[in-house]
Amino acid sequence: FADGPLAGRHILVTSGPTHEPIDPVRHIANKSSGAQGTAIAAALRDLGARVTFVTGPAEVPPPAGVAVVRVTTARQMADAVQTALPADAAVMAAAVADWRVANASATKMKKDGSGAAPTLEFALNPDILATVSQGADRPGLVVGFAAETNDVVAHATAKRTRKGCDWIVANDVSPATGIMGGAENAVTLITGAGVEEWPRLSKVETARRLAAKIAETLA
Ligand code: C5P
Repeated sequence: FADGPLAGRHILVTSGPTHEPIDPVRHIANKSSGAQGTAIAAALRDLGARVTFVTGPAEVPPPAGVAVVRVTTARQMADAVQTALPADAAVMAAAVADWRVANASATKMKKDGSGAAPTLEFALNPDILATVSQGADRPGLVVGFAAETNDVVAHATAKRTRKGCDWIVANDVSPATGIMGGAENAVTLITGAGVEEWPRLSKVETARRLAAKIAETLA
């Protein structure tokens, strides 16, 4: 694959959920299998790119032939992403937890017998996509994701502007679609040129199509 259309290019892919500890044995997490991010990393590799794959604790194993950086929390992911730059493109497919537990306990929390429940306090995590999109080391092409349950195009279009990325791959993750945790995806790609509705495809086919469009754009 060394002579593919992405030969000589370095592409950063984030994938999977992040886990934010509550105590040493409990966490809060986003729902994400890592299937779409993993397929994207594999598709970019197949077109000849050198891929750095920064992944949270996903259900699917990372692809072969990419540089894997495993992280747990959003803050670890943010650090790993900064370390991985510069890159020609970044595809931020991770489902990052927006908040971490600010009052996480260093020891396992116990029921105290009174029947009282603990209160979790939250702190805002860094927005990795926005930081990369607006940073000094910004890749030439930055692709973000938007998982929406309603008004997909309107929300994703606003997100593209707010984050400062070039493209948004938006999908409808309403439970009825079966996309979350499933093998298929139906995405809407939002670029500076407009809105493209892609057909319902396997996550592998969606990834190949996205990788081909990235190769075309970087060419
Ligand atoms: O704001 P929202 O989470 O809906 O945006 C989703 C996009 O932003 C995804 O590309 C995701 O990887 C990225 N993101 C991030 N850091 C966060 C939250 C989201 O990079 N803290």
